[in-house]
Amino acid sequence: MKKVGIIGVGEYLPERVLTNVDLEKMVETTDDWITTRTGIKERRVADKSEATSDLAINAAREALADAGIVAQDLELIIVATITPDMPFPAVSTIVQNALGAKKAAAFDISAACAGFVYAITTAQQFIASGAYKNALVVGAETLSRVTDWQDRSTCVLFGDGAGAAVLSEVKSGGIISTYLGCDGSSLDLLNIPAGGSRLPATQETVANKMHYIKMHGNELFKIAVRMMAEAGEIVLRKANVELSDVKLVIPHQANTRIIMAVAKKMGLTEDRIYMNIFKYGNMSSASTATAMVEAAKEGKIKKGDIILLDAFGAGLVWGACLIEWSK
Ligand code: ACO
Repeated sequence: MKKVGIIGVGEYLPERVLTNVDLEKMVETTDDWITTRTGIKERRVADKSEATSDLAINAAREALADAGIVAQDLELIIVATITPDMPFPAVSTIVQNALGAKKAAAFDISAACAGFVYAITTAQQFIASGAYKNALVVGAETLSRVTDWQDRSTCVLFGDGAGAAVLSEVKSGGIISTYLGCDGSSLDLLNIPAGGSRLPATQETVANKMHYIKMHGNELFKIAVRMMAEAGEIVLRKANVELSDVKLVIPHQANTRIIMAVAKKMGLTEDRIYMNIFKYGNMSSASTATAMVEAAKEGKIKKGDIILLDAFGAGLVWGACLIEWSK
């Protein structure tokens, strides 16, 4: 099997910033409640003219430039998203066309907040086996479009954005181990009930706000902590790597309190955890992606450092990737 590493990263965040103070004017909430319960101060909201593919394309362009390759070098594009432009075709096909990546196969992955970890793990298989040389993986979401802006229990949490990575064969380092998990028995804890084949859009589903995210945050909180800690421990064990060898843990950014509880369970100090939740909120698949991109841009991860991506989301799904940075 070939060694597979990340050779370029990019991100795109919509310009519009929605602060907690703005939200105080929209629902019965306070900056203090949001900050202390979640760690979020502000989030980005895509412009009306922007769809998920637009965010993904911008992040992808930056990642390609960073990798020093052109779109024609790509053989695979995977977009992880739960907010596609439309039910079909896949966002990745729109990205493929916009980039002019004529040789690339393209498909989407729906694994909610664990989408980026699922997509990295999937792309790795194609390159490790020798099937493809270069793959583009993007986590992109416009959660603002599926958020009920009158529901204070969810609207304070989510945001829009995209993060991208180019994966390729590398001489040293790269992805060391991965782990993906799922428990499909808790569908009711987090979903968008309507708009699919179970409940196609009708006037009634729209009137009943069934096209928005429905979440039981409290129950999810405990499961997220347990499964993220377990996923982290599993990838370390699989690779025979000690937690003390990990430079930076890059978790899904759903809630600072979840992240700190995972850290406590794993025995991690705060200085070894990367967080950007305060400025973006929970962007589902784009959260782990942009956190990794920004950690790299800020010089917090350098060639040879071991990082741990760790995510959890609707499904329920979770997963982790242990990577020796090869850029
Ligand atoms: N402002 C003020 N009060 C609020 C707000 C708000 N925005 N939202 C809820 N409250 C109130 C509730 O009504 C409740 O009041 P009550 O006690 O009078 O009933 C009180 O605050 C506490 O509510 P909880 O839901 O128990 O608050 P909790 O501490 O659990 O925090 C949160 C809620 C932030 C949602 C948390 O549970 C969480 O982060 N859960 C995990 C989310 C997650 O991981 N999701 C998975 C990934 S997302 C994906 O896959 C797309």
